[in-house]
Amino acid sequence: MNVGVIGSGSMGSGIAQIAASKGHAVKLYDENKSSIENAINKINKILDRLIEKGKISKSDKNDTLNNIKIVSSINDFTDVDIVIEAIIEDLEVKKSVFKKLDNICKADCVLASNTSSFSLSSIASSCVNSNRVIGIHFFNPAPIMPLVEIIPALQTSNYVIDSSRELIDSWGKVTVVAKDTPGFIVNRIARPFYGEALRIYEEGIANFSTIDWVMTEKGGFRMGPFTLMDFIGNDINYAVTESVFNAFYCDSRYKPSFTQKRYSDAGWLGRKTGKGYFDYSNEAIEEDIDKDERKSDQIFRRILLMLINEAADALFLNIASRDDIDLAMTKGVNYPKGLLKWADEIGIDSCVAGMDQLYEEYKEDRYRCSPILRRMAKSNNKFY
Ligand code: NAI
Repeated sequence: MNVGVIGSGSMGSGIAQIAASKGHAVKLYDENKSSIENAINKINKILDRLIEKGKISKSDKNDTLNNIKIVSSINDFTDVDIVIEAIIEDLEVKKSVFKKLDNICKADCVLASNTSSFSLSSIASSCVNSNRVIGIHFFNPAPIMPLVEIIPALQTSNYVIDSSRELIDSWGKVTVVAKDTPGFIVNRIARPFYGEALRIYEEGIANFSTIDWVMTEKGGFRMGPFTLMDFIGNDINYAVTESVFNAFYCDSRYKPSFTQKRYSDAGWLGRKTGKGYFDYSNEAIEEDIDKDERKSDQIFRRILLMLINEAADALFLNIASRDDIDLAMTKGVNYPKGLLKWADEIGIDSCVAGMDQLYEEYKEDRYRCSPILRRMAKSNNKFY
């Protein structure tokens, strides 16, 4: 199968690398020549590191590089069987590229977008042959992160869904299918991990280090929310939150945080600027961690309940299946457990009671309990 990749930035280069390493002939196009050069250098270095680690041989590296052909125009995509687009996150630019691809590519070529925030149905609307358009959403870094969200547009044919999933599965990835809604699965369900942590900080309940300590030590999360936001970049994380919030017609559950906005405004973006919620310079002074048992239990329970409620609501609204929701969070963002499985362990009635208690206290729509949890508690049901 011949693969075309448009855009050779962080994501496109990774996607081209995976496809080429799986033996596909890959055509890689970017409108910016230096971006392609950087991509090839980057892939070269990654493959060298894999040789050093004994994961691949020198001939594997040569095969992968030989499978990638740089092309100077998308007019060269006439013989590819699937195109994966990973260009700038701009809806109008994406639509114009898809319109061109629809004319250039053969009739049965699948046209996929790696968009993280746009509606696939909207991108598909730019094509006459719109039933071949689909979302194939990799996580960064694409060669390493196992999860890939498959997002059919309203227009997408079942054949295209099945064949796309089959292809990405054959690359050793874990695929989940998500409804074409803002944030798909991971970027929707993960919002409270950041949002509720920020809110707890804003209320003066605990400092960044304490909240991070609670989530890693008590919760078993690999990184605390503030360390993770510093890693992602406060500018990027804020932009995703704002876009999800707007896309949900300002549902208060997804409300962005002033704290994060100010950190972003100040240029305190995290690791990439040497300062975010934490100081990454040599002179950094560590914050005190408050290990009070009762307080840390409350912080952990509050963030976890909000995550569970979000996961349950995604199931309630048929965003994805139970198994795909749990897989997405464990494989996409390394959660220690699937959230729905976690809900069963805590007890559904305890989740409902916890959400109702938060709602009682704040009287904010943000803390409304998902109807599915309430129904399940009434009938003594479990997710598994
Ligand atoms: P990037 O900025 O690293 O790379 C984008 C590349 O596209 C650049 O090399 C640019 O020259 C090229 N480009 C822009 N317009 C073009 C056009 N009209 N034709 C051809 N090439 C064009 O961006 P990144 O981070 O790789 O993101 C790409 C896509 O993947 C976006 O849609 C983004 O939302 C999505 N994505 C990004 C993730 C991330 O963590 N960076 C994760 C998952 C999805």
